[in-house]
Amino acid sequence: MKILVTGGAGYIGSVVAEELLKAGEDVVVVDSLTLGHRAAVPREAAFEQGDLRDRVFLDRVFAAHKPDAVMHFAANSLVGESVADPLRYFRNNVGGGLTLFEAMVAHGTLKLILSSTANLFATPRRIPIAEDEPIVPGSPYGETKHILERVLAWLDATCGLRYAALRYFNAAGATETRGEDHRPETHLIPIVLQVALGKRDHVQIYGDDYPTRDGTCVRDYIHVVDLAQAHILALRALERGSCVYNLGNGRGFTVREVIEAARRVAGHPIPAVVGPRRPGDPPELVAASDKIARELGWTPRYPDLETIIQTAWEWHRRHPDGYRD
Ligand code: UFG
Repeated sequence: MKILVTGGAGYIGSVVAEELLKAGEDVVVVDSLTLGHRAAVPREAAFEQGDLRDRVFLDRVFAAHKPDAVMHFAANSLVGESVADPLRYFRNNVGGGLTLFEAMVAHGTLKLILSSTANLFATPRRIPIAEDEPIVPGSPYGETKHILERVLAWLDATCGLRYAALRYFNAAGATETRGEDHRPETHLIPIVLQVALGKRDHVQIYGDDYPTRDGTCVRDYIHVVDLAQAHILALRALERGSCVYNLGNGRGFTVREVIEAARRVAGHPIPAVVGPRRPGDPPELVAASDKIARELGWTPRYPDLETIIQTAWEWHRRHPDGYRD
């Protein structure tokens, strides 16, 4: 198959592109390079630079490459930033998604995997969080993904577009060649590893007065390669119909436990300072991934937090300045 990967120069998109190529698929990456890195795009993939809201650009890409399916990663994805600038998130994420779906329907490409998010569950009633948990977006960012999921449900019913929405919890880890390089970096694991590399003095813990075992927030970290495998399995299962899955390892770790695991992996003291809460952070997010395990046979290759951090550490040590672009 030929897969069009939007956001394929970003962290998760580039790893999925790498894994698709390893699985023998053809890949076309579309990325504006606003946030992504050209160096993250696999050499074997075709590359088209442009904005998803540009329909003329998309028409040219679809006509030239005739993809069989799309994996849609391109988006702004920071909860706090979306609270500060909601309209940018609605314009980019909803506008880009709608223009992409229009182009797909117009060109007859009717298979899509959507990057969705745990930010659909701001106030979960039950943990681990299953797919039937009522959706309460925690931010404008989460709302943009909810809107796209709703649009896709209607496109399935009216246009025969088959989709899988994969709601990731906390993506982490790296492959030998691809890892996490956000500018500026806001995510816990890369920040902690930057301290271990001597690039920062300390990590700030955003609040230690949450109702959790040590007062810091609990998250479910999932290796980016395990996410990639879920995309490939979901794509192959689309023949059976559209579906929605929550994706995590089903185990939560506090911020302090993540820092402690990174200390063991990196052999560095990694000083931590407690600061105020970050607005919008739910106390605990842990996924129930039984549905994707049962229905698609998904089993994580890296279920262990320390191994996930180890893969990230190896990448950061080899690429202390990230992709350098
Ligand atoms: N944290 C710190 N200090 C830091 C950075 C993070 O204490 O310097 C804490 C956060 O408060 C949070 C945890 O570490 O409790 C994880 O934070 P991240 O920023 O790494 O990840 P988030 O859980 O905030 O966000 C991730 C994705 C989002 C997605 C969200 C869904 O990055 O795209 O999960 O819950 F929306």
